[in-house]
Amino acid sequence: MSGLSSTSEAPRWVRWPEAHTLADGTESLPAGAARIGYGADYNPEQWPEEVWADDVRLMREAGVNIVSVGIFSWALLQPTIDSWDFGWLDRAIDLLHANGIAVDLATATASPPPWLTEAHPEVLPVNRVGETIWPGGRQQWRPTSPVFRRYALALVEKMAMRYADHPALSMWHISNELGCHNVYDYSDDAASAFRDWLEVRYGSLAELNRAWGTAFWSQNYSTWNQILPPRLAATHPNPTQQLDFARFSSDALKQYLVAEREILRQVTPEVPITTNFMVMGETRGMDYADWAAEVDVVSNDHYLLVADPTAFEELSFSANLTGQIAGRAPWFLMEHSTSAVNWQPVNQAKTPGQLRRDSLTHLAHGADAICFFQWRQSLAGAEKFHSAMLPHAGENSAVFRSVSRFGGELGTLAEVAGSRTKQARIGILFDWDSWWASELDSHPTELLRYKAEAMAWYTAALANGLQADIVPARSVLNGHGLAGYDLVIAPMLYIVPQPLADALADYSRSGGHLVVGVFSGIADADDHIHPGGYPGAFRELLGVRAEEFGGLLPEQTVRLSGDLPGTGSLLTHDVSVETDVDVLARFDDGPFAGVPAITSRAVGTGRASFVATVLDQVALVAVVGRFAADAGIRSPLPAGVRGSVQLAVRQSGTAEYLFYINHTAQVVTVPVAATDGSLTAVDLGGSTLTAEALTLPATGVAVLRRARTEA
Ligand code: GAL
Repeated sequence: MSGLSSTSEAPRWVRWPEAHTLADGTESLPAGAARIGYGADYNPEQWPEEVWADDVRLMREAGVNIVSVGIFSWALLQPTIDSWDFGWLDRAIDLLHANGIAVDLATATASPPPWLTEAHPEVLPVNRVGETIWPGGRQQWRPTSPVFRRYALALVEKMAMRYADHPALSMWHISNELGCHNVYDYSDDAASAFRDWLEVRYGSLAELNRAWGTAFWSQNYSTWNQILPPRLAATHPNPTQQLDFARFSSDALKQYLVAEREILRQVTPEVPITTNFMVMGETRGMDYADWAAEVDVVSNDHYLLVADPTAFEELSFSANLTGQIAGRAPWFLMEHSTSAVNWQPVNQAKTPGQLRRDSLTHLAHGADAICFFQWRQSLAGAEKFHSAMLPHAGENSAVFRSVSRFGGELGTLAEVAGSRTKQARIGILFDWDSWWASELDSHPTELLRYKAEAMAWYTAALANGLQADIVPARSVLNGHGLAGYDLVIAPMLYIVPQPLADALADYSRSGGHLVVGVFSGIADADDHIHPGGYPGAFRELLGVRAEEFGGLLPEQTVRLSGDLPGTGSLLTHDVSVETDVDVLARFDDGPFAGVPAITSRAVGTGRASFVATVLDQVALVAVVGRFAADAGIRSPLPAGVRGSVQLAVRQSGTAEYLFYINHTAQVVTVPVAATDGSLTAVDLGGSTLTAEALTLPATGVAVLRRARTEA
């Protein structure tokens, strides 16, 4: 198994096909040859078969070695309730194999065919208002529908039986982006499954009533049947009901994933299984840190949001988090885009060099396969304006030339395949429960954004030229611990069950430095307040106590002065401190003028610090710089390039691979010789490396190698 639960077992990876003679008489690579996967979603069913020959010719030219096939093919594979047509898929897969292209075969269940929703409209999801989500788009199915499951699993079994022995079958791709459009379903099926889930979680109605705090507003339940998903209510629905529904919805999809997987494992135990996660942007419905243990290979889809000024940092953050979810083992970038997408309000083409930079940023964070949506740009349908490897303009196009150039370049990076991302010394905790619960309604402010807070700390680390890992809080509880981290930051860790509070207290008392951000440690796993003053779960450790929250209006800021000056926004706490606490900054004005805003305290052999507001980015950079320096963490990058260049490191048994990534549109020179003279080039891609310096072109990425001396 892969992911957070990984044991000493070697992680599984794509089962590359055995060497065989290709259609042109050449030999394909042996299965064990090192390579980076390169390819796309391939939808041959959208094209006449004459086009397929051209597809494989151009795939080979571009260096494509794997494609995902069949993702949205259900209606063609099973045209009616009792007829099947696998002929076209057989021919497509045979053709790919004859051309040395491996197949990541989808189970084809992502989007139910019209005959199914006609015969069984009860598989259609229902939104919180009670409206049916109709067919016409895709993924219109209820995760908990027994009827959907019956039909979908029959298809999975057919697929598994039919292709079990096909030599091109290299990985199973379960469904597609589970939960992309249907994570929250409020139907009667969902209601009934939610009740079952709650019964397992709480065991008794009394316990549920306690956890949900139903003494409030006359919500006490006397039978299980009274319990519903949080459908449209007169006013704020019960917060614990909302949080549990978020947990349940993630679990319901995970259970569905497991149901498909079990069939595949029975028929083809030797074929690895994946499903494409969506660790990106504000996609939050699925707790992937929890899902990772269920797949053999962690895969991710990532798209940049062009309107986001921190889009590139977000890419780096998401790639980093995906790597952590994968237990720092290699993962598979299943989708990103060669250029514009079609689903944002304005869709921008990528600039020259961006395809390479974005791809290599994923690779730097552990991706061993770089794939796109999709191979050939569609002529019809909702995604006809979405870029592809082979655009409408055809092979004589800048995009196809970049795609082919990059495919060739991946050959030079083959030695990186299989290496793991190197643990950073800074860990930033990330937690889905806190994401879900901290942004619920009826809070001190509706303006706080969990992901933005975590991103702000990550960006501040990058601005200091430091590497930071985005560590799922779940992994701390799973016993993976925080060993190796000298500085651990908990941004907006709102939900803190006692075992997590204890683990973090142990971490700081035994030599680590824990930094707790605004609106952290507020509630327990049931979303009940830790009483006695905020932040209850960390109050004793931090030596601070706050009695009130001070919400700030959207444009309102407060000044901080002291060792770490700056401005705060959105929320403040009225902090009082124990005598042994150092006050590093105080609020000058705002609701709590004069009270401590940033505090730090020695605990055991470590330290615990608190930041009682949302700091402006300059101040946050200073805070991270100061705490990192105190912990003895120094940037390997010279001051002049910090924030412009990101350094990410992977390591194998014998080498470290250093990825220098230029975030800017300017040429940047990094005096690498000053930090290490023994670097050799793996892939420069337009950069120049001399004995003294590495010069990166605008948006350039260079991959250098350093022999490892330690084990
Ligand atoms: C993903 C999806 C693909 C395609 C792509 C477009 O959500 O898996 O099928 O729709 O987005 O960006």
